Amino acid sequence: MRTVQIFDTTLRDGEQSPGVNLSTSEKVEIALQLEELGVNSIEAGFAASSPGDFQSVQAVAKNVKGATVVSLSRSVEKDIEAAWEALKEAESPCIHIFLATSPIHRKYKLRMSKEEILENLDQAVRYAKRFVPKVEFSAEDAGRTEIDYLCQVAERAIAAGADVLNFPDTVGYLTPEEYADIFIQLRQRVPGIEKVILSAHCHNDLGMAVANTLAAIQAGVEQVEGTINGIGERAGNAAIEEVAMALKTRESYYQAATTLNHREIARTSRLVSKLTGMFVPGNKAIVGANAFAHESGIHQDGILKHQSTYEIIRPETVGFEKSRLVLGKHSGRHAFRDQLSALGYRLTDEQVNQLFARFKEMADRKKEITDQDLIALVEEKWGEPKAEELYALEWVQLSYGNQSVPTASLRLRNAQTGERLEEAACGNGSLDAIFKAIDRIIGEEVELVDCKIVSVTRGKDALGEVYVLMSQGGITVQGRGVSTDILEAGARAYIDGINRLVQRRGEKPSAEKEKMGVSLG
Ligand code: KIV
Ligand code: ZN
Repeated sequence: MRTVQIFDTTLRDGEQSPGVNLSTSEKVEIALQLEELGVNSIEAGFAASSPGDFQSVQAVAKNVKGATVVSLSRSVEKDIEAAWEALKEAESPCIHIFLATSPIHRKYKLRMSKEEILENLDQAVRYAKRFVPKVEFSAEDAGRTEIDYLCQVAERAIAAGADVLNFPDTVGYLTPEEYADIFIQLRQRVPGIEKVILSAHCHNDLGMAVANTLAAIQAGVEQVEGTINGIGERAGNAAIEEVAMALKTRESYYQAATTLNHREIARTSRLVSKLTGMFVPGNKAIVGANAFAHESGIHQDGILKHQSTYEIIRPETVGFEKSRLVLGKHSGRHAFRDQLSALGYRLTDEQVNQLFARFKEMADRKKEITDQDLIALVEEKWGEPKAEELYALEWVQLSYGNQSVPTASLRLRNAQTGERLEEAACGNGSLDAIFKAIDRIIGEEVELVDCKIVSVTRGKDALGEVYVLMSQGGITVQGRGVSTDILEAGARAYIDGINRLVQRRGEKPSAEKEKMGVSLG
């Protein structure tokens, strides 16, 4: 098994995605997470391109210790100097010089002859080697360059001292076979090629970036370049998480591995998505919200019997919690019953059958059936709790300021004993403080699973409705509260949930629990 190095260019080629602009601190945050992920090189930016990019490369160079930090540079002295200035403090710096080699770029963009390009790259690589021990040279648009000329380019870059030679399919034009063939030919025809690291860099214009990268690995490259979530110019770059998981999942086929800590993939993907504002599509391989979600009844039944029936990767392997069975119109009885029992309902086969028909009707009208919907379904069927008001809100008072800790005081009345119970608590926010104060009065720990705030009517004096989903000891209930004030609605929803919980448990709060609140009689 050989190791393929991962060169991450999320902060450079990825940042070239239209509309993405990362600040220095955001780049450092992503770079530190990439280090956790275990990538071997981080291309932090293009130092000469702007003062902001210079600063970012510098900050990443200072902060990252476990990976090589790279700055992109055109094949000109002033860019190389800027790259070196920014990289000075890196433990392992690398200057990445690029120069286009294809006939189209030579003729229309550079207006340079083949010989001029060879001369230019030779000078630039030699100049960069004066500053850093590691220089990468990229033949931009290698994918559309004549193979004979590409061999001359490689030979010249090696002679000038390049350590890594990268042959990008800059415009995502090649097929996997064609891309692999470039590396096969270079290896056969270029003297001294075994002294350098060969690198692949693919774009996704025809949706083949990952396939091309894997083909290059099969052709023997030692390094692959890509971005998290596949972001980048136009249709993006090869998605690192897809390449890494293909190698891991098909280990015996590829006989190659990366040094990645796969469990960090989900976290890294979320961070990049959050900071770049580039939404990850639900069906995106490895990191999309649906990558481990199953909706069809046949699939759900299979997954519940054995995960390997419909999943080739365990979600935990890439840092997700678990597979998700989405209840919708294609779902079957097995998953339906399973989800009901996860909500704490112990139902007979007959009861499940009665509910299932109603569930299918609902699923025809609604894309996804949530836990709240299931609870409503059960309650509607068996007329369950209009929660008998064990606790009722008397008043709630809040102290809030954006410079102080939110504090809530409130009083509940126990409808059975007539006792009045008062408590106060601080929280991360006003609703959190309210929920904590209620927990204190009740004297119990309840897990708040979800909280939704919706406006029921329009306008400034709109009625606000709060829904909470809470769970305790395997029982999940929903609480609802309405008020013109959203915080009061929150308090009412939480108390409603507590009342339902007590009712579902079929017990009254113990005297001991009641004592924990301050009774005002
Ligand atoms: O796609 C490309 O050619 C590049 C080079 C600058 C390496 O990103
Ligand atoms: Zn690129």
